[in-house]
Amino acid sequence: MSGSEIVFEQIRSSGCLSYVLGCAKEKICVVIDPEIDKATDYIGLAEFFKSKLLYAIDTHTHADHNSACKLMRERYGIQVVMHRATDAPYVDVKVNDGDEIKFGRCSLKVLYTPGHTQDAICLLFDDRIFTGDTLLIGGCGRTDLPGGSAESLWDSLRRLEGLSNEIRVYPGHDYREAVSTLGDEKQKNPRMTIASRDEFIQFMTSRKPPLPRKIQEALEWNRTPIYRQRGSGEGI
Ligand SMILES: [Fe+2]
Repeated sequence: MSGSEIVFEQIRSSGCLSYVLGCAKEKICVVIDPEIDKATDYIGLAEFFKSKLLYAIDTHTHADHNSACKLMRERYGIQVVMHRATDAPYVDVKVNDGDEIKFGRCSLKVLYTPGHTQDAICLLFDDRIFTGDTLLIGGCGRTDLPGGSAESLWDSLRRLEGLSNEIRVYPGHDYREAVSTLGDEKQKNPRMTIASRDEFIQFMTSRKPPLPRKIQEALEWNRTPIYRQRGSGEGI
């Protein structure tokens, strides 16, 4: 699809990246990996594009920040989409590998890519792929948090390796440039260039990076069903 046929914005919140993507003709859009502090920004962007925000899609259960999906569902009636392996109890549409998430004339193809978490997906959209934390620019998601598996991530990265070099990579976190191509990642990403499965598993399981600062809060928020107010009276 040409640029004039779609709406596309990358939104940065600290190290997290989220995306508003939409069909410009039928004025329907989705938000991918929404972050709670940016919830009103997504709504504002949809309004700016005169579009209806149909779906909030999480590529996986986040352990480092609070997803806005639950809040956007409660407050704005936006449907939440995640892989069927998720534990999150507030999901309206559970997707499988190969499913198409349709909005207007656009659709995202679901690739089930477990490893960083057991519910991780990538979303293919023409010449773009939204990789969540499965593939980062110059890296990949860690596998030592709940639901992680180095073995599964190896297989998932091989699956991405089979896709076209020209596809642009839009990850869930940005530690470098915020967009890359699969061709560049295949050549330069040190996690993608590890030659053997055993070596990759050994590398990933020997890493012990510090836990995300907000892991307890994030996992509790992202895995519980009811929108709760924080503090005294004021909603988030
Ligand atoms: Fe993650």
